[in-house]
Order: sequence, then C-alpha cells, then structure tokens
Amino acid sequence: MSSEEKRLAGEAAVKYIEDGAIVGVGTGSTVAFFIDALAGIKDRIQGVVSSSEQSTAQLKKHGIPVFDLNATGSLTVYVDGADECDPHKRLIKGGGAALTREKIVAQAAQKFICIIDSSKRVDLLGKFPLPIEVIPMARSLVGREIVKRGGNPVWRDGVVTDNGNWIIDVHGWQIADPVGLENDLNQIPGIVTVGLFARRPADVVLIGDKLM
Ligand code: A5P
Repeated sequence: MSSEEKRLAGEAAVKYIEDGAIVGVGTGSTVAFFIDALAGIKDRIQGVVSSSEQSTAQLKKHGIPVFDLNATGSLTVYVDGADECDPHKRLIKGGGAALTREKIVAQAAQKFICIIDSSKRVDLLGKFPLPIEVIPMARSLVGREIVKRGGNPVWRDGVVTDNGNWIIDVHGWQIADPVGLENDLNQIPGIVTVGLFARRPADVVLIGDKLM
C-alpha cells in the first residue's frame, strides 16, 4: 500500500533528526506524514526551514517554528519526497510545483534524506514527466529548446508556483545522463529550476521504513 509506505517513510525519517537541529522540510504527501511525526519531537528541535507555503501552513498548525533560510545558514539535514528515484539516488521532483525552493533547501543541507514509497523507484528516470519551472515570458522559448532536445513540453496550465512562475512538464525523455541534462537545461535562459536532482542527489533514501 503506497500511502502506508509513505507514512512509514515519514516516521522513519524522524530518527535521523538530531537534538537542537534546524530541519529542512520538503513538500508533498509523504512529507506531510513526516511533518506530523516531527510534531511529536518539536520540543527537541530549534525549528525548520520550509520549502513551500503548503508545508509552512502544516508546520505552523503544529506550532513548529519556521525560519528564513537567510537567517539559519547551512542545515544539517533536509527531508523530502520525490516523484522518481534511480539506483544512484538521483531524483525527479516537482510534481507538487515546489521544486525551486526544494532545490535551494536541499543545497543548503549537509544530508538529504529522501522518503518515498516503492512506486517511485525506477532504473531510468523520465517516465514521470520532468517538471521545469520557467519565468512566464520564456514559456514558449523554453518549450522550443526542449523540442530541439527531443522532449514533448506540456504547460501545466493554471498552476503558478510560490515564486510566481509557471511549470512545464516534459514528456518522452528517457534520461540516461541526468547530470548532463541538468547541466544543459540550466543554461537555457528563462529556466528557473529543473526538477532533476542529479548534481546534488539524495544521500539516504528510505522506501517505507527500509533503507534503499
Ligand atoms: C513537490 O514539488 C515534489 O517534489 C514532491 O516532493 C514530490 O512530488 C513527491 O510528492 P509525494 O510525496 O506527494 O508523492
């Protein structure tokens, strides 16, 4: 059962949180279980840095202090879900449109703990359409660049990110070189963030309560 695995993963991640930590918190239905579990140890941590308005609302409901990343410096740990995870712990993320802040908080953390259910585990990334956050005026330009690279870009019409930008989901890519593709796409003007987490993969992956 995938939601049971999500709950187990969320609860298992709490064991990685050290006393006094400021914890980076991701976004999504698996992270929602983590936040509920984190509430149980909230008196042992200083607080969190959140990756989305959605997570911030849930954290505040639990009375967990939410800090600005500019005020905290580097974090010891970041906990987040993923849409796909390959054997090298490289990820596709952004199904919930929170990829930019997720990538920022992941970059700030010494250890990235990824919590997933077994449906997310793949040998090759790309079956899940790759989310890309774009500056609105660059949507068509970025779309044409993706077509040149053999992808099929689909605008996630109606979705505006927490940063006021838009999302393009790229279908049809089998991503054999995730680091190379992430580097290449990062050079296209108008792309804010690519939902590939390959240059900075996860350090630990929990599938339910089992280590990958
Ligand atoms: C949010 O933008 C995503 O990166 C999520 O981390 C990802 O979509 C996983 O979400 P679920 O835990 O809801 O499957």
